[in-house]
Amino acid sequence: MEIKRVCVLGAGLMGHGIAQVCAQVGKFEVNMRDIEQPFIDTGMKMINDSLQRFVKKGTMTERESQEVRGRIHPTLDLTEAVQDADLVIEAITENPPLKKAVLSEVDKHAPPHAIIASNTSSISITEIGGATKRPEKVCGMHFFNPPQLMRLIEIIRGLKTSDDTVEVIKSVSTKLGKECVVVKKDTPGFIVNRILVPALNEAVFLVEEGVADPEDIDKAVMLGLNWPMGPLKLIDYVGADTNLFITGVMVNETGDQKFRPSTLLRQMVRGNLLGRKTGKGFYDWSEKK
Ligand code: 3HC
Repeated sequence: MEIKRVCVLGAGLMGHGIAQVCAQVGKFEVNMRDIEQPFIDTGMKMINDSLQRFVKKGTMTERESQEVRGRIHPTLDLTEAVQDADLVIEAITENPPLKKAVLSEVDKHAPPHAIIASNTSSISITEIGGATKRPEKVCGMHFFNPPQLMRLIEIIRGLKTSDDTVEVIKSVSTKLGKECVVVKKDTPGFIVNRILVPALNEAVFLVEEGVADPEDIDKAVMLGLNWPMGPLKLIDYVGADTNLFITGVMVNETGDQKFRPSTLLRQMVRGNLLGRKTGKGFYDWSEKK
């Protein structure tokens, strides 16, 4: 099946980047949908800022950046967004009832041939697929933050995902310039978060126990393990709320306490110290904002 038009649901931290990659690298026409105009405006601003970085670097001309923008069609209307889409990529809030409600609507208005892929980082693809009447055309398509730069896509099979659906998403991922891996079983955290979550949790425990300062923990991991960014900065970058949500799903689903979050991470979320998106987390992001 040839994919020509993509719809991305959500213009947030992940959604805007996914829409940009689809328009920029995949050269797809992209409908980007969010529920309020300010979310769309912020998403388009992040896309413009990112495109300007490529222009400044000389990897893209100003004219090319305008063409990319021209292929992105922002909208508030769900029906309009999905009605002519061959592929719908869902990147909305990690809230299972909300995701299921939205995907059930998508299922009603998207063409019968359309594939629905979810960028969820932890929610079961089988559960998401069950909200539609086409679970064989539903799979996970997990991008990494920032989607414009990170090279991996995890493709996750739900219990009913068909081989054809996986093949189409593999070929779309290649067209987006990404490497992909297939997660054969719909398990919490897939591959990357299964490994990353305990590591990030442990970094927060080190802060909570007063073993070292956040800067030194990050420095140790960056220089000792060659990570591009320390674990605490990465929590700030992705969002403490997102991290807490993922750990919660993993503990609930597996019952394994190795995924348990620290009290400090819970308190940071309660205190709205979410990192980059609220201006403060382990680090102060207000100036960088
Ligand atoms: N668009 C375009 N270019 C961008 C960009 C964006 N959104 N963000 C950064 N860049 C470019 C910058 O312009 C810069 O280009 P240059 O080297 O030519 O000057 C380059 O990337 C480096 O950026 P910075 O100097 O601002 O900062 P860093 O050197 O720290 O790089 C980073 C930023 C690429 C984010 C790097 O720190 C990194 O790779 N960090 C780790 C990211 C990571 O682990 N992501 C996965 C998170 S887990 C996840 O997403 C799963 C989810 O389920 C939770």
